[in-house]
Amino acid sequence: MVKVPFVELNDGNRMPALGLGTCASNGSEIEKAVKDAIDVGYRHIDTAWAYENEYSIGKAVRSKIAEGVIKREDMFLVTKLWNTFHDPQHVERAFRQSLDNLQLEYIDLYLIHFPFGYQYKNDHEQWPRNSDGSRALSNVDYLDTWKEMERLVELGLVKSIGVSNFNSEQIARLLTVAKIKPVVNQVECSPTINQRKLTKFCKERNIAITGFCPLGHPSPAGKTPAFMFDSRVAAIADKYNKTPAQIGLRFLHELGVTPIPKSVRKQRMLENISIFDFVLSEEDKQLMDSFNTGQRLVGMYDARKSPYWPYGIKF
Ligand SMILES: NC(=O)c1ccc[n+]([C@@H]2O[C@H](COP(=O)([O-])OP(=O)(O)OC[C@H]3O[C@@H](n4cnc5c(N)ncnc54)[C@H](OP(=O)(O)O)[C@@H]3O)[C@@H](O)[C@H]2O)c1
Repeated sequence: MVKVPFVELNDGNRMPALGLGTCASNGSEIEKAVKDAIDVGYRHIDTAWAYENEYSIGKAVRSKIAEGVIKREDMFLVTKLWNTFHDPQHVERAFRQSLDNLQLEYIDLYLIHFPFGYQYKNDHEQWPRNSDGSRALSNVDYLDTWKEMERLVELGLVKSIGVSNFNSEQIARLLTVAKIKPVVNQVECSPTINQRKLTKFCKERNIAITGFCPLGHPSPAGKTPAFMFDSRVAAIADKYNKTPAQIGLRFLHELGVTPIPKSVRKQRMLENISIFDFVLSEEDKQLMDSFNTGQRLVGMYDARKSPYWPYGIKF
């Protein structure tokens, strides 16, 4: 079983420095994947209300606790407040839905999924539209949402709170009012968009970076992202007896980022977590830096007209 080091968070809690992504998988597939992941050594699982898989993930975790493989306190479970629930009146109810889905007593880390909101129609409508087909945006300010996130900590329902997809200006603005600082900003981060600047900015403020899409969603047919299919990265991988995916994930780890690669295959889970037994050289890192085009997979362009759409500035 692979042992993963921890990242110390600014509120005294700690987070395993690599987690399992779970987006776009649900039901028995993700239930089995989470059980396999726990057997392999994963203790940090990333989900979201919007992934519609919290129930299956909670079921897998509870079953591993019942088997005696883990204790609840060994696990670090992350879930996220969806865009339709930003209005302060919806935050606690949305959180309790996640808690009910997971059927656990608490959540380790709750994130605001995106800084912009969508109009609330009902508790189930995730992607509301205007009559012309465009996305129905809300103008709720994430500062107001954050106050409710803080209340969840005060109620003892969640251990840590954080944000996702916030840019540097949004982080700075949040810090002007936060009674409880976000512990994490979860953003897209892979060798293609390595987030060196945002990571430095957040680290200076004692906020950890979690990196989503850390493998850049590999497509063997399209040979993307470039680093996964590059012969020079393959040569580095050979040198350490590793794979290009492991080189990419190790690179993020050395940048101080916590990657959350998603896989439902046990062999790949083992591959992705086995990155803590080697160190990249400066030349290796220089080569990995050369893949940093800044191109995003997740742009959420439907929310471009929101004043809180985060991707309009450099970082
Ligand atoms: N906060 C946010 O807004 C946000 C946005 C997007 C994602 N996320 C989180 O970040 C997680 C990771 O992102 P992601 O799932 O979009 O992308 P990713 O982890 O970069 O890539 C996942 C894809 O890569 C495949 N894969 C996994 N390991 C591999 C390996 N070693 N070699 C080759 N292919 C491999 C997986 O297929 P198999 O499953 O078939 O192995 C899956 O199709 C998500 O699952 C989610 O938890 C958060």
